[in-house]
Amino acid sequence: MQGSRASGEVPVWDLLVRLFHWGLVLLIAITFVADEGAKWLHEPAGYAVLGLVAIRLAWGLIGPPTARFASFVRGPHEVGQYLERLRRGSAPRYLGHNPAGGVMIVLLLATISVVGITGWMSESDAWFGVEWVSALHSASANVLLVLIGAHVLGVVISSFAHHENLVRAMITGRKSAGLAADSALIGEEDIGAPTRDRVPRDAPIR
Ligand code: HEM
Ligand code: HEM
Repeated sequence: MQGSRASGEVPVWDLLVRLFHWGLVLLIAITFVADEGAKWLHEPAGYAVLGLVAIRLAWGLIGPPTARFASFVRGPHEVGQYLERLRRGSAPRYLGHNPAGGVMIVLLLATISVVGITGWMSESDAWFGVEWVSALHSASANVLLVLIGAHVLGVVISSFAHHENLVRAMITGRKSAGLAADSALIGEEDIGAPTRDRVPRDAPIR
């Protein structure tokens, strides 16, 4: 822990979460592009997306603290409070996902699952040619596009609000220890807690 504090950064996103994220981005991009041109790629990429989501769901239960759903999926009250504070410019910083990010992650994973499963169904013997299955596949893919836009906007807003490059953190896996400068840094109970409430903004990094 001493070593990571010396560089002022702490590990936040483990390798699996990062590979999952950027793999998902790549494969979903392929499914959309391959819908137009290279059709043969659409289905394998779609199945791979489903595989990634299944792994992430399991990791959300057994993975390290920042990856666990229990550490970042919050109820409506806490999400509402966070959004209100964000509007007033006083949103607390979280080392893991913030409550609004948690909602977005649940929506993204759920929508991706609907798109993938209806795609799979539309090619199965039982559901082939069933109108509503194809309609749901295409409608949920459109919803997914909107959510992705909102997700990227949320990342940009959150990065500015807390003066930190969240995209870089999702690549390197590390975030500035900054506000969470105390020792039990990545204690399980701390991950889902706003860091500013525990440590003053300008607390020195020891
Ligand atoms: C296909 C498009 C995308 C999908 C489906 C997607 C999905 C997700 C998911 C599911 C997470 C949660 C990660 C986890 O805990 O496992 C996440 C987090 C994140 N994504 Fe994306 N993402 C997409 C595109 C992007 C892009 C283009 C960027 C960069 C601009 C980005 C930046 C991030 C960042 C920075 C986080 C962490 C947010 C935080 O610090 O709380 N994502 N994304
Ligand atoms: C999870 C990622 C996936 C995404 C984002 C996605 C997205 C899309 C999109 C945007 C379309 C065009 C819809 C339209 O023309 O209105 C489409 C069509 C299609 N997709 Fe997918 N898809 C995914 C997974 C799958 C999977 C796993 C399969 C099957 C194994 C599949 C099979 C199809 C088929 C057969 C079509 C054309 C007929 C139809 O609309 O039902 N897709 N997909």
